[in-house]
Amino acid sequence: MELYLDTADVAAVKQYARILPLHGVTTNPSIVAQSGVPLWDLLPALLEALGGSGRLFAQVLATRAGEMVSEGQRLAERVPGLVVKVPVTAEGLVAIRQLRALDIPVLGTAVYGAAQGLLAALAGAGYVAPYVNRLDAQGGDGIALVSDLQQLLTLHAPRTRVLAASFRTPHQVLSCLLAGCESVTLPLDVAGQLLNTPAVCAAVEKFTADWQGAFGRTTL
Ligand code: E4P
Repeated sequence: MELYLDTADVAAVKQYARILPLHGVTTNPSIVAQSGVPLWDLLPALLEALGGSGRLFAQVLATRAGEMVSEGQRLAERVPGLVVKVPVTAEGLVAIRQLRALDIPVLGTAVYGAAQGLLAALAGAGYVAPYVNRLDAQGGDGIALVSDLQQLLTLHAPRTRVLAASFRTPHQVLSCLLAGCESVTLPLDVAGQLLNTPAVCAAVEKFTADWQGAFGRTTL
């Protein structure tokens, strides 16, 4: 499977790259805007934080196909291997086909429906990103979406991967993986929740306290 962080926090990427088997970093315009770092400075910094290798994803801002393609080309030229994120609108589907014809890797993003994700895959997207929590938050079922989409892609577009996105809880992440999805991108708070289970810390503290109580030291 492939594990990504969904962030523009360079220091956090560096920290997590030490701990987790990260494949790379995904961003979107809101995440980049929140960081306040210009995209063209941010992308090389994220790559360096990953240790010089790893897959980066950055999103186009344009809404018309021609401009989406121009932005995608600029992104791909600036960062070799970068995957261009394109929202799966009608114009986005046109842009995905054109970017693929230029041999530029694409992720279809802002996916709220299985048919929408399948269309992005048929247009040539190598990844499609269903928004799990955002769908849950509006009364839908994000995990069912991931499950349906994964089945559709396995049947009809097996070269496209589901990269599930938009998480608030570790449970959502694990449910997607159990549904057969092979790639996830984690916001920092969810990555933190996966690691820092309070019960684990309490158990480790008790081991140390018991040892110190018996032997008067905290080393073997
Ligand atoms: C994925 O492509 C998006 O960047 C992101 O995961 C959206 O999720 P949010 O609901 O955490 O903003």
